[in-house]
Amino acid sequence: MPISIRDLHPEFVGEVEGCDLRRPLSREETRRLEEGIHRSAVLVFHDQDIDDLQQVAFTTGFGPLENQRGVDVTPVEDLRLKTPVSDVSNLGQDNKPLPRDHRIRMFNLGNRLWHTDYSYRAIQAKYSILSGRVVVTEGGNTEFADMRAAYDALDAGTRAEIEDLICEHSLMYSRSKLGLTEFTPEEQVTFKPVRHRLVRTHPATGRKSLFLAAHIGTIVGWPVPEARALLQDLIEHATQPQFVHVHRWRPHDLIMWDNQRTMHRVRRFDETRVRDLRHTAVSGDAPTAPQAA
Ligand SMILES: [Fe+2]
Repeated sequence: MPISIRDLHPEFVGEVEGCDLRRPLSREETRRLEEGIHRSAVLVFHDQDIDDLQQVAFTTGFGPLENQRGVDVTPVEDLRLKTPVSDVSNLGQDNKPLPRDHRIRMFNLGNRLWHTDYSYRAIQAKYSILSGRVVVTEGGNTEFADMRAAYDALDAGTRAEIEDLICEHSLMYSRSKLGLTEFTPEEQVTFKPVRHRLVRTHPATGRKSLFLAAHIGTIVGWPVPEARALLQDLIEHATQPQFVHVHRWRPHDLIMWDNQRTMHRVRRFDETRVRDLRHTAVSGDAPTAPQAA
């Protein structure tokens, strides 16, 4: 059956049919999906009962696999998974939910803030792929916001004001919003702020979008309070219901999204229950701005 993509949210979220991710995709199937993600920024696949290596094989069909180290505070020796996927579960190495005050759990609570993955790297990974191996039936939804539609809906004055602004992104900024302010010297090096444009143009489609995330701490050349007030205004604007799609997870759902044109967040759930999602990403091509000297 050839791949077909049905709109769940017009020009933003598409539901893919005719795809079995347990086997390698043909070049034509990969091309069709990439064309789909250029039109819809989010693609949803159902009933994909895959393992970690099948997820990596699917991911690398679109480009190099993004290095997953340095995206959290989990020491290598404490990793639950030994495969090249990122662990987006609420579990420790014993496969039980992490204690409430565990540092890894508290750090991962940053995923509840609106963000885009890897914006804290100078070259942001372009596509994220998230596979739901064990999901919860209440809560734990993932919400996506369309940063192209949000940009288009800005008034002309705001568009002109923000056109050339450069922001600083770091995992330390997003975590400090949750009250996590202590980082080891190594983490401070790994999480050193990077610069990105606030308005970016998609290389494939030419469409402009807002590049927002909880990881932003300031705007270069602006007083911090003024920067944060503007960023808060823009995030409120960009996450109005008309720009947001809510995904309610079913077992073996897989979602692929374009980090360059979306924000997302996970919603609260009962963390005494097991929720085990696995994440991979496709490396990006170029920085959006020069870095600080
Ligand atoms: Fe994320």
